[in-house]
Amino acid sequence: MTRASVPIAVPTPLGVVADVSVSRIECHVAELDRVTGGGVVPGSIVLMGGEPGIGKSTLLLQFAAGVVKGAPVVRHVLYASGEESGAQVRLRAGRLGLLEGEAATAIQVVAEAEVGAVIEAARALRPAVLVVDSVQTMRSEDLDGPAGSVGQVREAAGRLAAFAKSEEIAVILVGHMTKDGSLAGPKTLEHLVDAVLTLEGDRYASLRVLRATKNRFGSTDEVGVFEMGETGLTEVADPSGAFLVHHVGPVAGSVVVPTMEGTRPLLVEVQALVGPAGVGPPRRTASGIDPNRMALLLAVLGRHAGIALGTHDVYANVAGGLSVSDRGVDLPLSIALASSARNMPVAASTVAVGEVGLLGELRAVPGLERRLREVARLGFVRAIVPAGEARGRGIDEIETVAVPTLRDAIAAAFAGGGLPHADGSPPHMTAVGPAMLG
Ligand code: TYD
Ligand code: MG
Repeated sequence: MTRASVPIAVPTPLGVVADVSVSRIECHVAELDRVTGGGVVPGSIVLMGGEPGIGKSTLLLQFAAGVVKGAPVVRHVLYASGEESGAQVRLRAGRLGLLEGEAATAIQVVAEAEVGAVIEAARALRPAVLVVDSVQTMRSEDLDGPAGSVGQVREAAGRLAAFAKSEEIAVILVGHMTKDGSLAGPKTLEHLVDAVLTLEGDRYASLRVLRATKNRFGSTDEVGVFEMGETGLTEVADPSGAFLVHHVGPVAGSVVVPTMEGTRPLLVEVQALVGPAGVGPPRRTASGIDPNRMALLLAVLGRHAGIALGTHDVYANVAGGLSVSDRGVDLPLSIALASSARNMPVAASTVAVGEVGLLGELRAVPGLERRLREVARLGFVRAIVPAGEARGRGIDEIETVAVPTLRDAIAAAFAGGGLPHADGSPPHMTAVGPAMLG
């Protein structure tokens, strides 16, 4: 190889490098735009992951409609479907009311699974966004192996990423993932894409949360909340209490926690079920909560709070199919475990939030005041929080119980049960849904 054949990379002065913020492609669905960081960046590649049937195709078709709607110059979105026929895509579009108006002409569908053919179609149409649904159904003719194999998925994604960059077209890949992300394909793509958005929720319930788990062009904290209805996904304007479950009576093993998702507080219910193990090793199942974190909390409960669950089966989850990585969930999860083990509900209208240390000490969580305001707004009357941070940061509307250790927190959680609810409803409510607030 002679020197002359080596391609030369031309540097650009830092101050002259193009700024992405000026050219983002918004879809005017506020909940979606906030998660992408204000719109999708031309030339970037985004992976939209989620369990099968959760609503990825629905959301992306609605996204496409938002992108083309009211654009000053005509914009196209190319929707490449390797999974469904054009007729099936049309059926969904009909349900979403997209068969008339701009969407009907500006969204173009190609039912094709060969990645080269999809790229050629996009090269010809020059859409603002190319949606590929799904990356697992794409295959390349240059490569052996069935669609969905790791080799094929990586090849397809690699070629689409190169296409996105060279043509300045945003590409969105749909990737089916199981809850723990264990489906081989999409996980291996995370380093290759600029952003990873995941749509989560309980497939059998209506609420969905969209979050960015990676975003080279924005924050990874923000979440968008949607509700799946008869005509697609609609934005939940006031989502902070949407995930709460209404119980008719006191239930052991349930604790409400004000989590913080980016700048937005979201109240969720942590549920635990503890029972004596049968033969064999005890079962440990955590859904929506890090299982390693739960194992650690079980050890702390045994050593520092006198609640030994080493010979018990333990199940824990977050209601509504959400996953929570906020460390503030440590304390409510520990209390929920204690509550189930003792078969005692926590005091009425009480929430808890805090990180638990290895020695059973409680640690501060960020944004406490913001969380407590939301707790008060949703009608709870009492919050158990780590000591040291409550002073000066508690709020007047609710009783803030600041405790230094997990042992103290558990004592506080079961004491004083029977405080009446702020709106006068019976005191045995552990969670108040927005429907009750009237
Ligand atoms: P879909 O977008 O096909 O999921 P994915 O692409 O993630 O596999 O949506 C799946 C479910 O959503 C399906 O069971 C039907 C339901 N659905 C609605 O409830 N309302 C609607 O308007 C649409 C289009 C779908
Ligand atoms: Mg789909």
